[in-house]
Amino acid sequence: MSDNIIQFEIKDKKAYLEINRPKALNALNKNVLAEIKKCCDILKNNSSVHILIVSGSGDKSFVAGADIKELQELHNKNREGENFSKWGAEIFNSLEQLPQITIARIQGFALGGGLELALACDFIIASENARFSLPEVTLGLIPGFSGTQRLRKRLGTARAIEWIATAERYSASEAYTFGLINHVVKHEDLVFFTEQIADKIIKNSPLAVKTAKLVIRSGENCNFQEACDIESHQFGHLLNQAESVEGISAFIEKRPAQF
Ligand code: CAA
Repeated sequence: MSDNIIQFEIKDKKAYLEINRPKALNALNKNVLAEIKKCCDILKNNSSVHILIVSGSGDKSFVAGADIKELQELHNKNREGENFSKWGAEIFNSLEQLPQITIARIQGFALGGGLELALACDFIIASENARFSLPEVTLGLIPGFSGTQRLRKRLGTARAIEWIATAERYSASEAYTFGLINHVVKHEDLVFFTEQIADKIIKNSPLAVKTAKLVIRSGENCNFQEACDIESHQFGHLLNQAESVEGISAFIEKRPAQF
């Protein structure tokens, strides 16, 4: 990836995307966003990768938001600000829609666009030193990469309005209590713990895991009954696939399944 602003690696069914601008606390400039899109394009048709782990380099920051110096260049440029926001939101949609299970592994600051990036992942695992905030209103702005909507979906309307309007910064344990993140672990255990969760997922039927994500996410865009119909359809589809033949046979024969 250009200038190593992103480090992208595929290893043992896992992909690792690390944002690598530690001097700018891994702020998302246009080049970083473009590289994230390229990684999504690589992954979307790669069935040999089951997990994507998204992180930021260094201990101090996951991602401290969109690059504020680039935002300044968008002042009074007619629709360029809106187009920038739409472009970033589309990239985060591509990330959210990946077939892989995506995990944001967070240490340090996850602010603004950085928290929006994490919210576009399937779930968040954080170190005790992680700090979360959507501080855009302190800049005279609002979240622009779909953070208003993803935070509302994750925390509910009341908390999302309070978070965004106060720009308060929350600790990892507070974020855990609110349901923003799935796990808080000791800083030194973050990488190992995340690998363990990834390995548990990889052990299961890849097709079933991918389908589970697809069906769960389908519920975000249709009503309950439609989503349950999608679930039934996919359940039936899986019963006609080799992986369920193997999984069910393995249970009956009292042996580990080989997926
Ligand atoms: N954009 C560009 N550069 C940033 C940045 C950002 N979001 N965040 C930090 N940096 C840069 C700083 O400018 C500084 O660079 P220099 O050394 O060249 O001056 C370097 O990273 C280190 O930052 P600080 O010296 O500020 O470090 P600190 O420890 O004193 O403070 C911080 C850390 C609290 C995270 C502080 O840097 C900060 O508040 N950053 C901005 C956070 C923010 O407002 N994010 C929202 C951005 S807007 C957005 O994301 C819009 C959207 O939704 C699309």
